[in-house]
Amino acid sequence: LGNKVASLIALLAITKLPTFIYGSGTILIKGGTVANHDLAFPSDVLIRDGIITEVAPTIEAPPGATVLDAGGMYVMPGGIDPHTHLDMPFMGSVAVDDFFSGQVAALAGGTTMHIDFALPVNHDLMAGYKLWKEKASRSCMDYGFHMAITRWDEQVSKDMAELVLEGINSFKFFMAYKNVLQVTDSELVEGLQRCKDLGALPMVHAENGDAIAWLQSRLLSAGIRGPEGQALSRPPALEGEATSRAIRLAGVVGVPLYVVHVMSIDAMEEIARARRSGQRVVGEPVASGLALEENPLWDSNFTRAAAFVMSPPIRSAEHGQALKKALASGVLQLVATDHAVFNSTQKAAGRNDFTRIPNGVNGIEERLHVTWQEMVVTGLSTPSDFVRMTSTAAAQIFNIYPRKGRVAAGSDADVIVLDPRVTHTLGVGSHHSRMDTNVYEGKQIQGKVVATISRGRLVWHQGKLNVEPNSGRFVPMPAFGPLFEGLDEQYRRRGIFPYGPTPVLRGPEAAAGTAATTSQ
Ligand code: URP
Ligand code: ZN
Ligand code: ZN
Ligand code: ZN
Repeated sequence: LGNKVASLIALLAITKLPTFIYGSGTILIKGGTVANHDLAFPSDVLIRDGIITEVAPTIEAPPGATVLDAGGMYVMPGGIDPHTHLDMPFMGSVAVDDFFSGQVAALAGGTTMHIDFALPVNHDLMAGYKLWKEKASRSCMDYGFHMAITRWDEQVSKDMAELVLEGINSFKFFMAYKNVLQVTDSELVEGLQRCKDLGALPMVHAENGDAIAWLQSRLLSAGIRGPEGQALSRPPALEGEATSRAIRLAGVVGVPLYVVHVMSIDAMEEIARARRSGQRVVGEPVASGLALEENPLWDSNFTRAAAFVMSPPIRSAEHGQALKKALASGVLQLVATDHAVFNSTQKAAGRNDFTRIPNGVNGIEERLHVTWQEMVVTGLSTPSDFVRMTSTAAAQIFNIYPRKGRVAAGSDADVIVLDPRVTHTLGVGSHHSRMDTNVYEGKQIQGKVVATISRGRLVWHQGKLNVEPNSGRFVPMPAFGPLFEGLDEQYRRRGIFPYGPTPVLRGPEAAAGTAATTSQ
């Protein structure tokens, strides 16, 4: 905690100082290895006024430039966390990290953009959008929004079109959280069709909420009231079933699908099968699902156990191992966090009933380090693969590449420097989130983000933050991204609406060449 207090004091002191003392807006990163998703190569990087202006073998320092020595280090695009819940009201609590504290944590961990899930207010999308804009107004890094759809009607359908014009190109459907956020299959197919028409990517939280509710009440009556009930009430089969259902419904409608927080072999195998069959399905594991395992849910200390409660649940080690291999091989595409943090007193609301423990774990600060450790240090993936799964894939899927997700001239200067030689330990003592627990407590990491540049400003360097409220921007994400390219031809060949089917002509109408209007 000492570290945390010290860095917050530094943050407060620093934010009052004029920014020019940190350089003229020009930063030169010298002597590092630039890693993009497709290539890693030794290069200098020059940044001016928020943009990367030059990537070349040797660049002379312009007068007044801040020069960072990156010898022996990787220079990579800043992380993009495609799945966060900052300042979210949920299960009777409000997540303790707001846009400022969550983003400070993100920047300290090398993430320079996140996409947060705006929730409708009483099913009203525009009210939810307005509220989320207010929540994000003091942002210190770039962000975008997904919008959740919690019921279906004409107004929702209209508002979706309006939100697409505002720069939201993805809509999330919850197949769980019965009587709160869950949609029915008929609502889901309406939403999938609307997404297809708008060129927006549908996302699903895939768990069978009805079966979960049934299991929850059976467990509670059997006297299982603790956090272990979270795992027991949400078995992998219910995640696999809903994932399969969502994928098949998206296949019938003919729209790409993004499956958030893939936590089980069961769900991953459904995604693998769909991708092999030619369907455009994106699978998003989260850092906690890759690196953690479920044992702490059985811990006799309620606070420790409750800290691990999220949905779908963190599972046994074999699931995490399989998810990592699926990620390494490209069956799964990108790593998120689902950062949704509730402190111990909030989680205590479910002390006698696990169904009342606010769901969610931390990760916005730890994601890059955990992914580096689990994927690169273990030799499963290369530094370029790491860039793809932590940054580039998100930029491509949400249609903001190469403005984001690449170190190249013309791209936004969201850049990190990672020193693979530095070891450090994750936990409450060093993290920047407002959380009073950390699911990665004590985890050793080989490799550390030593500098973060957010739109051209050095916001994290050698353990010190220099963030400014109101410096983040909303990044509009245009519809009809790469996942929609060429789909029209696929529809035509498969005879999917609007290309087919056509009515069978029968009787006199057939002779006349018009469709039958009465049965023959
Ligand atoms: O437990 C979780 N995942 N909390 C956040 C809400 C969600 O389902 O993504
Ligand atoms: Zn340095
Ligand atoms: Zn979810
Ligand atoms: Zn989530």
